[in-house]
Amino acid sequence: MTKPMTFTLSEDERPTSWYNIVADLPVPPPPPLHPGTHQPVGPDDLSALFPPELIAQEVSTERWIEIPEAVQEIYAQYRPAPLIRARKWEEKLGTGARIYVKYEGVSPAGSHKVNTSVPQAYYNKINGINRLTTETGAGQWGTALAYACSLFDMECEVWQVGHSFDTKPQRRTLIEVFGGKVHRSPSRMTESGKAFPEDHPGSLGIAISEAVELAAQDEGAKYALGSVLNHVLLHQTVIGQEAVLQLAKAGESGADLVIGCAGGGSNLAGLIFPFLRENLVEGKTARLVAVEPASCPTMTRGQYAYDFGDTAGLTPLMKMYTLGHDFVPSKIHAGGLRYHGMAPLVSHVVHEGLVEAVALEQDECFAAAVEFARTQGIVAAPESAHALAQARREALAAKEAGTEPVIVVGLSGYGLLELGAFDSYLKGNMSGDSLSDEDLAASLAGIPEIRV
Ligand SMILES: Cc1ncc(COP(=O)(O)O)c(C=O)c1O
Repeated sequence: MTKPMTFTLSEDERPTSWYNIVADLPVPPPPPLHPGTHQPVGPDDLSALFPPELIAQEVSTERWIEIPEAVQEIYAQYRPAPLIRARKWEEKLGTGARIYVKYEGVSPAGSHKVNTSVPQAYYNKINGINRLTTETGAGQWGTALAYACSLFDMECEVWQVGHSFDTKPQRRTLIEVFGGKVHRSPSRMTESGKAFPEDHPGSLGIAISEAVELAAQDEGAKYALGSVLNHVLLHQTVIGQEAVLQLAKAGESGADLVIGCAGGGSNLAGLIFPFLRENLVEGKTARLVAVEPASCPTMTRGQYAYDFGDTAGLTPLMKMYTLGHDFVPSKIHAGGLRYHGMAPLVSHVVHEGLVEAVALEQDECFAAAVEFARTQGIVAAPESAHALAQARREALAAKEAGTEPVIVVGLSGYGLLELGAFDSYLKGNMSGDSLSDEDLAASLAGIPEIRV
């Protein structure tokens, strides 16, 4: 008989609530601070940007938050996302490790980002908002928000990081197919954008400033963020909740290791927080690993400090691992991992020693993604390739040690619109991408000194 490869869930097993890790953390995370007063921000400080339900979720300490019916209906179009046992890859690696891949590439936009774009659009719509502004790095988030806005008949305006805009015209077209409007960032439409030359490669920090600036000026518009904030991470927990159930269906008693890539931290958190709950509440001992690029080593070489989420300093100050808010990363191919900070909740659990962080060079990540494609038939997004590369390391270490761990890997999206990056790799044109000590020091010097 054929061995089972894909584990899914029945309709009634699909999660109906999001899981809030804050309820189970042994030490509460530090609050965000107002950029002017340096006092903890209150709901009023956020109301220009976000609707009340999302602000409530941002500060909630409730363990389970019900997913609205209208959102569940849309999730049902592509969820549960499959958990795939990567048997062919295991065979190629000759490892005794059992590798399970949680694949978010089946979503309409090809990544996990739809898990949060849909509820964000929904909560804005029921509050009478008809226009959302946002940034996008790799283009995945812009695509996901454009799709969600089209479902709720809303306008969607996207500032795409300049380098990504120039090199990924197809991603821009996909956003436009879903009804979004795309601007190259830095643009000439905002003061934040005009502070930089027009041909600047841009950064997520600059694009966020531009989208926030425009939303704050228009009463009928709000801003939507694709990562970093607590409510975004919360929405992503459908990933890990499903994976926990699917792993049980695969006959496993749990995971030994759960690995995800981290840009702003949302897919990682969505995958690992339900496993962290099992560690904290049920006494399980899964190792949880965040993988970041060596060129943007926020958790492995950054500081744990209060810093702005954007370049212009318009957002609240968040306690997080940061490289400094004016850090401009090298033009690596994993555009979604080029962010100077890390979600405060992810930073907190790394700082508390509950989650490990590692940094990998892009060459190794593409090598793993190509090997994975040739065995499993899925072309992973360059971001997700970071998780695959770490899983590969762990599987080979297990082979060496003669152990048989259960490894769960987050495959946050597909890379079919990133074939230019794969082309560079296959032609041997991929450059080394470590960050020099001098560049790191210069950028860390920009972190504001905050006394609390
Ligand atoms: C496929 C994919 N994975 C990962 C990321 C990184 O974001 P996050 O760390 O919020 O999951 C992105 C961001 O654009 C992405 O498109």
